[in-house]
Amino acid sequence: MRKNIVAGNWKMNTTLQEGVALAKEVNAALEGVQPKCDVIICVPFTHLASVNDVIDANKLGLGAENCADHASGAYTGEISAAMVASTGAKYVILGHSERRQYYGETSETLKEKVALAFENGLTPIFCIGEVLEERENGTYFDVVKAQIESALFHLSAEDFGRIILAYEPVWAIGTGKTATDDQAQEMHAFIRGVIADKYGKEVADNTSILYGGSCKPTNAAALFAKPDVDGGLIGGAALKADSFMGIVNAF
Ligand code: 13P
Repeated sequence: MRKNIVAGNWKMNTTLQEGVALAKEVNAALEGVQPKCDVIICVPFTHLASVNDVIDANKLGLGAENCADHASGAYTGEISAAMVASTGAKYVILGHSERRQYYGETSETLKEKVALAFENGLTPIFCIGEVLEERENGTYFDVVKAQIESALFHLSAEDFGRIILAYEPVWAIGTGKTATDDQAQEMHAFIRGVIADKYGKEVADNTSILYGGSCKPTNAAALFAKPDVDGGLIGGAALKADSFMGIVNAF
């Protein structure tokens, strides 16, 4: 059966020293407790190796926030999936709306990134979600379906089964305006149906679908109580150990 997961996405926040301190705090908060979900932190590239050294991998997963769409070579400033994996990280966020919006990521580049993540043993946390205009003009189901189909539906059922999905309505990210738990459930159930139509019910039932967008300790329990919401991808509230743990403990 699918896993419940709470993953932090630190985005472009914290210096190396601050990030290592935060990772230590989260790791310490998980000591001696049995959360009802897997817990992951996705941190800036510069922090990966040092954070890996201070966390207990059995308690706390580590991921990057992106990787390159090429394996290696003359791509100044890029970080490959192999480099990410060599730090000890096991996950990589791909297709975050901020990367799609500000860095022009398309389904074509994301296909390459997903393939390279798999080749290097990384689990993609693959983000999808509509912008406000699409929510308001009622095209949001079509938009999200197209994002999944165009970037992921070339995969075999086995490979698709290795993906974690994160539904992040762009209008809810960093805005304080969370999707209601009913809005999240409606979309997550729709996504699971789209997966079932392509890969069958078993693959769909085994896919973890996280919600992201202004998820906080105060709203996480209601979101996670919904049958198709399998956890959260957390931005701002992941930058303090106590608020992040408040969300972990919402399960
Ligand atoms: P916030 O939790 O800050 O809204 O960010 C959500 C997000 O984008 C996680 O990837």
